[in-house]
Amino acid sequence: MTALHHEIMRYATLAPSHRNAQPWMLHVLDGDLFIHPDFTRRAPYADADDESLFISLGCAAENAGIAARALGLRGEVSFHPAGRGGLKIDLGAARHIEPSALFHAIPRRHNAPEAYDERTPSAAELEALQHCGADLGVDVVLVTHRPKIERLAGLLEAAHQIRGADQALRAELRAWTRVTEHAALQRRDGLFTGCGGGHLAARWLGPVLCDWLSSAPANGARAANRARKSGGFAVLIGASREPHRWVQVGRACERLLLHAAAMNIRAAVINEPMEVRATRLALAAELGNHSRLPNVLIRFGYGAAGLPSLRRPLGQVMR
Ligand SMILES: Cc1cc2nc3c(=O)[nH]c(=O)nc-3n(C[C@H](O)[C@H](O)[C@H](O)COP(=O)(O)O)c2cc1C
Repeated sequence: MTALHHEIMRYATLAPSHRNAQPWMLHVLDGDLFIHPDFTRRAPYADADDESLFISLGCAAENAGIAARALGLRGEVSFHPAGRGGLKIDLGAARHIEPSALFHAIPRRHNAPEAYDERTPSAAELEALQHCGADLGVDVVLVTHRPKIERLAGLLEAAHQIRGADQALRAELRAWTRVTEHAALQRRDGLFTGCGGGHLAARWLGPVLCDWLSSAPANGARAANRARKSGGFAVLIGASREPHRWVQVGRACERLLLHAAAMNIRAAVINEPMEVRATRLALAAELGNHSRLPNVLIRFGYGAAGLPSLRRPLGQVMR
């Protein structure tokens, strides 16, 4: 393995993932990079069919492909159904280096969970976001019409409320929540929220407080208010419900998030409505698309940059 391979793997691991679970294992074989699902990191309750897991793998593969092409390699991504599915990134030499604003955006992209102001990006910027799924068979529906944003904010609030009352979902979320700095630094995965209030809870109080906050009705109202203040939403819809299609959704998702970062537009994945069947169906109906379920919901706008979240060292994700 060369230093270049190492660097491309590092870029792959900077991808967003469901719960920041980083559900991937990487290895280089015959000069190409392979990204495999790590099913020990799945969320069996919230993500029973591993859709979010494969979307997260797609995000990592997109980063690897962009980094490879920017470093003079072919960077073509393909899906291999062997086992339960994995991804190959062609690391053969390319004829030329592909200069790319997206490559530089990879380390700068962070989920930006704070409120944005209500400015909407320009028509040209929206068009760039809209095209992110074109060659991947993924529809990107942009919502910038205020009454529709209001209705989606309502769906988000409903999803938070239903999730808050679901004990099994809360238990699973708790397992991925790192409440103290100590836990976050030790594990280098999961959601380090400081309990969402920006303060660090004492180690013994942390899980209790965090659980209470995530279940409180005010949590849904806060998420909805933030959503209302967005410049808009992007909804990504894959071609069908199969792992290789979810990977394509993940690739389009990361491409869109990187385009946004490159244009200094903040963005956050807010997939809570996807984890509740009723709100997911309601979102599909709102988009006028009853036959295909939406896969990813993103809000975007202008505001404070998100903080970087931790990643496990490469040594822990390589085999
Ligand atoms: C498939 C998927 C689903 C996600 N769902 C949510 C979500 O419902 N709520 C949320 O706040 N963040 C969500 N995220 C964002 C992740 O929590 C975030 O990417 C992760 O914590 C890593 O942080 P980073 O994106 O700043 O690197 C999701 C990301 C992915 C890829």
